Amino acid sequence: NFTPNAFVEEIVAELQEKIKGDKVVLGLSGGVDSTVAAVLLNKAIGKNLYCIFVNNGLLRKNEFQNVLDQYKGMGLNVKGVDAADRFLDQLAGIEEPEAKRKAIGRVFIEVFDDEAHRIEDVKWLAQGTIYPDVIESISVKGPSATIKSHHNVGGLPDFMKLKIVEPLRMLFKDEVRRVGATLGIDPELLGRHPFPGPGLSIRILGDITKEKVRILQEVDAIFIEGLKSHGLYDQVWQAGAILLPVNSVGVMGDERTYEKVVALRAVESTDGMTADWVHLPYDFLMKISNEIINKVKGVNRVVYDISSKPPATIEWE
Ligand code: XMP
Repeated sequence: NFTPNAFVEEIVAELQEKIKGDKVVLGLSGGVDSTVAAVLLNKAIGKNLYCIFVNNGLLRKNEFQNVLDQYKGMGLNVKGVDAADRFLDQLAGIEEPEAKRKAIGRVFIEVFDDEAHRIEDVKWLAQGTIYPDVIESISVKGPSATIKSHHNVGGLPDFMKLKIVEPLRMLFKDEVRRVGATLGIDPELLGRHPFPGPGLSIRILGDITKEKVRILQEVDAIFIEGLKSHGLYDQVWQAGAILLPVNSVGVMGDERTYEKVVALRAVESTDGMTADWVHLPYDFLMKISNEIINKVKGVNRVVYDISSKPPATIEWE
């Protein structure tokens, strides 16, 4: 039986014992896991924790600035690094899902490494890895080798020579949220849906351009805001939109249109390993679909994903 208070007490003592007076660098993602890991470490070692929050250009609409402000408000020692153009340059022309993940992972490591080198005498790298990440990344290396590679698991290249500390590696998502609540983290932040490290890149099927990212950010924002304003956000484990590499014919006034299709996805899950699609109310889906088509230029059709995991996955790539 998991008790968050006891966990916090134990892990803080353990972290202090392990890290002593060393400096630690941690990559914040805006998600629950890295945030809880950071607050735990902040509690254990204070200013010796150096957090880095990278904008990879694939975050949700306005997310970089909003989340950075929120972190500063929490008293974390955090630096925001806007590397959007660097990521988008490296992604140009790449269509294959694993190649996208690899490119993003590579650029992230480069950017992160540059920043880590600015911290004099840093000894540790902290990560917000949780138990399901550990399991999936082990499976990736197994004989079937079919599960997607999670770019934020598996450590860093040798040249960084940092020791790894992962305070949440034995916890499931719901346990991480309970630990966060015990630590006094804003419930809205703790209730955020999971969001993949490669961000919107794996929800843009085919090659990635600035324009496609912009379209998807608009669509996603309408969907997520709609879920919130209709009281549905907390009933859903994860939701988002996918930009398909397909044009379909539509009609707008007297004009024929030939524009993009987006898919909406909302799932129920406890740990992301299995998931069911959510039976969102038809009226809600109708409203959101109309709003997207009316407001987002370049989209003329919305579909809803009714696949469960397995055999589908939550993300489309
Ligand atoms: P799938 O698509 O494998 O996703 O059913 C399960 C959960 O993992 C997230 N996901 C990722 N998270 N890096 C991440 O940090 C990744 O490369 C990645 N791929 C999928 C996905 O959003 C879902 O919550």
